[in-house]
Amino acid sequence: MKNYKIAVLAGDGIGPEIMNQALKVLDIVEKRNDVRFELMPASFGACAYFSDGKAFPDETIAICDEADTILKGTIGLGHEESQKIPVDERPERGALLPLRKRYNTYANFRPVSLPPVLSHFSPLKPNVIGRGIDFMIIRELVGGLYFGAKKRGVDKDGKRWVHETLEYDEEQIRRILHVAFQTAMKRKKVLHNVHKSNVLVSSVLWNEIVEEVAPEYPDVTVKQVLVDAAATAMCLNPGQFDVMVMENMFGDILSDQGGGILGSLGLMPSACIGDKKSYFEPSHGSAPDIAGQNIANPYAMVGSVAMMLDMIMDLEQESKNIWKAMQSVFAEGFSTPDLSNTDVESKMIGTDAFGDKIVAHLKNI
Ligand code: IPM
Ligand code: MG
Repeated sequence: MKNYKIAVLAGDGIGPEIMNQALKVLDIVEKRNDVRFELMPASFGACAYFSDGKAFPDETIAICDEADTILKGTIGLGHEESQKIPVDERPERGALLPLRKRYNTYANFRPVSLPPVLSHFSPLKPNVIGRGIDFMIIRELVGGLYFGAKKRGVDKDGKRWVHETLEYDEEQIRRILHVAFQTAMKRKKVLHNVHKSNVLVSSVLWNEIVEEVAPEYPDVTVKQVLVDAAATAMCLNPGQFDVMVMENMFGDILSDQGGGILGSLGLMPSACIGDKKSYFEPSHGSAPDIAGQNIANPYAMVGSVAMMLDMIMDLEQESKNIWKAMQSVFAEGFSTPDLSNTDVESKMIGTDAFGDKIVAHLKNI
């Protein structure tokens, strides 16, 4: 029997509502497999700041340290509410980035995937997406502009200035490239390397390392694409992509665009993998405007559970079952009000009911 300690960080906004659905799914998986999940809930984000004075409280750090892995909901408040929190304790800077840094979760997997049964959600025309969309964005998650030195000041004339540094060393680049090549090996063996080497010297070094690593994966075809051109190509012909790799900031932006071509970031789970610890979270935010209304779709949160089972727990079959169960709910014509922006009419149900339907399908698989 395998035992996993899972830190459960439901977070802010819609986080707790969608996390509840993820836990229902985990419960089924536990009941019918030789596995035990020890769930360790902890507060994280703005809610933690208001209750403990810190967005990533010491107690939560201790729980995450002890856990084998971490399941995270969403964090963040609306603009007005977040003004009540000092800048360094706002959930993004005070909780999320420190979490990534502490566990060195450098490999962020963001599947831009829309199976045929969900393809009506995409704003792209059917002749552009064909039978769906399916590629993987691999984003470096603990380097670049996000974590480089930052400084601001005022010059002698009173003019304000800022320095923000894009930092990478070759080791950081090499390890994410290995992840990307290995992922490409498991898929279609085509890797798009996304960069901006016509301007950025960081991309020049990045591409040098690509040249060095590529010979270790002779079966993988590397395709070079500038980040701006990649943004266009994702809209015009997403089918050409299978695995894309890029640095942190490019990945932040292009993965949101990935959510856009799916029809919603609510359709994008994610995995953040480090050498020792990993965490799993939906790619979307906390949607404070719809929090507490039981209308958020749990797809990305439950999908993050599926990624966890597949990527670090050897429960690939259950992972597949979860994807299948979620697709079956959509195939029956159900959706949640936050995912209603489509020409196809859906039967609208709440977050809880959607979770229950996933569970019902899962039980039957
Ligand atoms: C994401 C988010 C975060 C990021 C924010 C919340 C700091 O946009 O996970 O993509 O920029 O990485
Ligand atoms: Mg983002």
